[in-house]
Amino acid sequence: MAKPRKIIIDTDPGQDDAAAIMLAFGSPEELEVLGITTVAGNVPLSYTSRNARIVCELCGRPDMKVFAGADAPMARKLVTAEHVHGKTGLDGPELNEPAMPLQEQHSVDFIIETLRREPEGAVTLCTLGPLTNIGLAFQKAPDIIPRVRELVMMGGGFFEGGNITPAAEFNIYVDPEAAEIVFGSGIPIVMMPLDVTHQLLTQKGRIERMAELGTAPVKAMVEMLEFFERFDIEKYGSDGGPLHDPAVIAYLLKPELFKGRHCNVEIEVKSELTAGMTVIDWWHVTDRKRNAKVMRHVDADGFYDLLIERFARI
Ligand code: RIB
Ligand code: CA
Repeated sequence: MAKPRKIIIDTDPGQDDAAAIMLAFGSPEELEVLGITTVAGNVPLSYTSRNARIVCELCGRPDMKVFAGADAPMARKLVTAEHVHGKTGLDGPELNEPAMPLQEQHSVDFIIETLRREPEGAVTLCTLGPLTNIGLAFQKAPDIIPRVRELVMMGGGFFEGGNITPAAEFNIYVDPEAAEIVFGSGIPIVMMPLDVTHQLLTQKGRIERMAELGTAPVKAMVEMLEFFERFDIEKYGSDGGPLHDPAVIAYLLKPELFKGRHCNVEIEVKSELTAGMTVIDWWHVTDRKRNAKVMRHVDADGFYDLLIERFARI
């Protein structure tokens, strides 16, 4: 059995972030979570740092190291998404305040220290929120850039357009400057845009199958997802909401569930109208560097089979 892959999860929980973290904790043979770094995004940093610890305790991992990171984007005012995730960011279930501590160290310094300590090419960055912590880390310590094995991120969109503006997806929209640094860094990137995550709807049958597991952590997760999906059901009239962030972890566990291609991805940082847009050269009409593997197709049933199978282990 191969040794588990070392990952850092950078996150702005968020109910879908919580599902991604639970999926990672349900896969200890394949993934070793070195730490969870939080960032302001869906809700302010005080809530994302609280929420990450609540999810760790829910998953029976009060030992996990959770770090607080950037409380605002690199160059803009913070935009949050309480309209989707509720005031706390984990609305839905009744949850206790976390007992486990927050680490003293800043997320950015933990990312730098870990990448310098671990062997080159050993650590994968899994980003589920705005890329502020990663952008700051690369700016502060460029020596860590070649040490990253891969960055697997949820963010962006092209054929699906945007979800916070007509042109931009939330994670990129919140901090386009950080995204520009990351996509210009040269590290291997796997991108899970809305084009993929909009295929991963929390359909009724899927939530029912999840609920049948009957455990307390999964009951809380189901209540989170039932709160989370209401926004997209009202907005799109869809059968459930898109479960964005677990696509990042599912890719590490079963990459064969996804299909995509290497493309050039540029980030719009100038225009007000299209700020945060990910301009994906899917048809290779330019000779710009193909800096990301952009996913476009996913086996949604296979994804939910994996999710439910791993949730059962929590
Ligand atoms: O646009 C969806 C992304 O924004 C997800 O990561 C969700 O959690 C929010 O952060
Ligand atoms: Ca997120």
